Amino acid sequence: MFHLQNITKVYRRRQQEVVAFKATSLDIGLGEYVAVVGPSGSGKTTLLSMLGGMLSPDTGKVWFEGESLYDLPINERTRRRREQIGFVFQTFNLVPYLTALENVQVPLFLHGVGKSEQRDRAVALLEQVGLGNRIEHKPSELSTGQQQRVALARTLANNPRLILADEPTGNLDPDSREAVLSMFDQFVREGRTIVMVTHDPGAAARASRRLCLNDGMLVAPEEIPTTRAA
Ligand SMILES: Nc1ncnc2c1ncn2[C@@H]1O[C@H](COP(=O)(O)OP(=O)(O)O)[C@@H](O)[C@H]1O
Ligand SMILES: [Mg+2]
Repeated sequence: MFHLQNITKVYRRRQQEVVAFKATSLDIGLGEYVAVVGPSGSGKTTLLSMLGGMLSPDTGKVWFEGESLYDLPINERTRRRREQIGFVFQTFNLVPYLTALENVQVPLFLHGVGKSEQRDRAVALLEQVGLGNRIEHKPSELSTGQQQRVALARTLANNPRLILADEPTGNLDPDSREAVLSMFDQFVREGRTIVMVTHDPGAAARASRRLCLNDGMLVAPEEIPTTRAA
């Protein structure tokens, strides 16, 4: 699904250069469940953003399904992102003044799905994540775990082949954490690809593969300094 070639991403701030990510070669196959682990500041979010078409590397190419993602015109890249990629963040990015139902309807609306079908599909998705009885609640009226599940339902609305998650269990109570991880297990069984940044060793252990980052570089697990682990 992905092939990264000679990638570097450098941030420049106040005369200081930070190599946020550097890799000569990295492949992520279709249907893989990859956990990205490493200390805070090691480049995990930078990698995820480049995979998601949201951050252009300074050098190198990100091949996505045989196309060089950052050589595509911006509208084509946006279209790939909207049609094929689902994002799950630690902060759920729900629209606060919309209900759970309306939040899930947004991507369907953007896809041009008709009004009544939007509603039916959004209800079905919320039922799938166990929130069929909360569809009219606004984010502030839901628990953190429920908000994350609304965000998951919204992510699923586009039926994405690839899910990019940045610390999806970071803020959750044990039950909600388990609910999210079981859904991820199910996504993988459905043939989707997942790349998940996580500080949660139990979550990382459920992935089929772990990518370890330290100072922007891919390293062997034993090279991650435990003292700096976040
Ligand atoms: N927009 C930015 N401007 C400058 N430096 C940044 C920016 N984003 C991230 N960095 C730096 O790049 C490095 C990697 O960041 P990040 O990918 O967010 O790490 P992680 O997600 O592993 O915590 C860090 O040293 C961070 O301070
Ligand atoms: Mg991060």
